[in-house]
Formats: sequence, C-alpha cells, structure tokens
Amino acid sequence: MPGPLLYLSRRLPDKVMEAISERFTLTSVPQAAPPGRPDLLAGIRNAEFAICTLTEQVDEDILAAAPRLRAIANYAVGYNNIDITAARARGIVVTNTPDVLTDATADLTWALLLAAARRVVEGDRLVRGGGWSGWEPTQLLGVEVSGKTLGIVGMGRIGRAVARRADGFGMEVLYSRRTDGASRPPDAPGRQVPLADLLARSDFVSLHVPLLPDTHHLIGAAEFARMRPSAILLNTSRGPVVDEAALVEALRDGRLAGAGLDVYEREPEIQPGLREIPQVVLLPHLGSATLATRVRMGMLCVENVVAVLEDRPAPNRVA
Ligand code: GLV
Ligand code: GLV
Repeated sequence: MPGPLLYLSRRLPDKVMEAISERFTLTSVPQAAPPGRPDLLAGIRNAEFAICTLTEQVDEDILAAAPRLRAIANYAVGYNNIDITAARARGIVVTNTPDVLTDATADLTWALLLAAARRVVEGDRLVRGGGWSGWEPTQLLGVEVSGKTLGIVGMGRIGRAVARRADGFGMEVLYSRRTDGASRPPDAPGRQVPLADLLARSDFVSLHVPLLPDTHHLIGAAEFARMRPSAILLNTSRGPVVDEAALVEALRDGRLAGAGLDVYEREPEIQPGLREIPQVVLLPHLGSATLATRVRMGMLCVENVVAVLEDRPAPNRVA
C-alpha cells in the first residue's frame, strides 16, 4: 500500500532514502541541488509531511500553499529557514536534528581553528602550486594554539563540545551566553564572562549561537574593535551572525589576524573582498558533513515525521 505523501527537498544519503520510501510516497524526485521556488511549491502542495534542508525558505506563502501539511522535519539543527510562527499558527509540527551533529560540527570548528592558526591552506597552496623551494626558518609562521584563550560565544550543545576539546590543547576557556545570569550549563568547562570581556581577552573567538533577531550581526565593527589584533574569529553557526562587510574591513586593516568561516551571510555568495584575504580559511558549510552524521540526521527526520504520522509526540519538536 502506498504510504502518505511526503515532500523531500534534496536527495539524502541512500540509507535515508530507503528508510523514507519504506513508509512514505514522495511527491517529487529530489535532486542534489536545491529546488527552485516553483518546484518547492509544486512538491509541497499535496504533501502531508515534508523533509527540508537549510537552503529552503519555508515561509508563510509556502505553508499557505500546503493545506494538508502536518509536519516539517528540518534536516539541520538550525531552523531559521522556517517561519516557526506561521507553522505554529497552522498547527504544523516543526522538528530539527540536534545532538547527532554536535561532534561533527565541533570537530570542524577545530579544523578551522587549527587551519587558520597554522596557515594550513596557504601551505597547501604553496606546495600544490610548485612554489615551495624547501624548509625555511621564517616561512609561513603561524600562531601558537596550545595554552591560548578560547572564547566561546553561545554555550549550547555545540559550544560545549568545542570547549571540551580545548582541554587537549591546554587552553583557557571563556564563554558568554545570551541568557545572562542563567544557571551554568551542565558539564561546561571554562568561565562565563560578559561578551565584551570575552572579545577583549580571547585569542580565538568561536560563534555557536542560533540565528535569531537578536543574534543578527552580533559580531560587527564595535565587536571587532574590542578584539585583539592577533585574534582569530571562527564561525560554524550561521553567516548573518557576523557583519561580513565589517569583517572584511577589520581583516584588511589588520584589526583582526584571521578568520575561519564555514557559513556566510548570503550563501553561496561570498562577501566581496573576502576571497582575496589570504589569512582566512573558507569552507562551503561543511559543519555536519560526514556520512555517519548526515545519515543520523536523516534517520532523525524520519523518526520525527513517523511519530507525527502515528500520532505520537515528535522527539525533536521545535514548534
Ligand atoms: C547546519 O548548519 C545545521 O544547522 O544543521
Ligand atoms: C622541524 O621540522 C623540526 O624538527 O624542528
């Protein structure tokens, strides 16, 4: 018997595709590339369930076009791409994929930290380009990581996982949270300080807040002015948390030593000037990009829509 109609916006790993087709009938054939808006509208129109990714803007108009929709599982931990208020008003359940991508994203944050500090990408380019003529005492000197201060902005699941890894590098950890005065998060290493102090004292500043109206451009010109000129900024959260125009200026003017970015304000567009700055490492939004994690994220989406289908509470409900 064919299962209920489900709209899947992108092709997911094979194991997830199999799990979806065991229970559901797809309304369209998902591709690797993001759907255009007409395809999204056509696919979701008759669906009772949807699994979407962070590239799909699911707004009021999309929801209005899908009268039978009961649940949207977002294939991401962040869900700023979905109009949660509009979904709630229509009684549509929205879920995300927390926990399963925490370690993968924390690992990638460290990949960026180390790559930016030790000039890994510049070194690779030198070798690959045939320009390396041998070891030199002062070639591509980076900054020391061990024993430095790591500032974590946003001490949620991913922030804590990044902080835990700092122990191996003998680093001091400072963190700031938006909910000042809230109780110390469980198993959080480090010391909570106001954001302004964290910026002034950290050698590495790593962002782990969700994108919300009050975190948009949380880090801009005023914050770069507080940071050390030797500091490195890391962003594996959401691009619009950083004012990219101000970031380019700070890097160009030498008010910031470097950056490691996995996310951008207007993905996949890159802020003019950013690509030309050698001391930034630029990744194409790879935070959760391991096969094991991407499979777990998909299975969690399936678990959530199946729960709604069977009239059980969705385990990762955010609206
Ligand atoms: C990726 O960016 C996610 O939110 O899962
Ligand atoms: C460098 O290769 C060293 O041995 O110090």
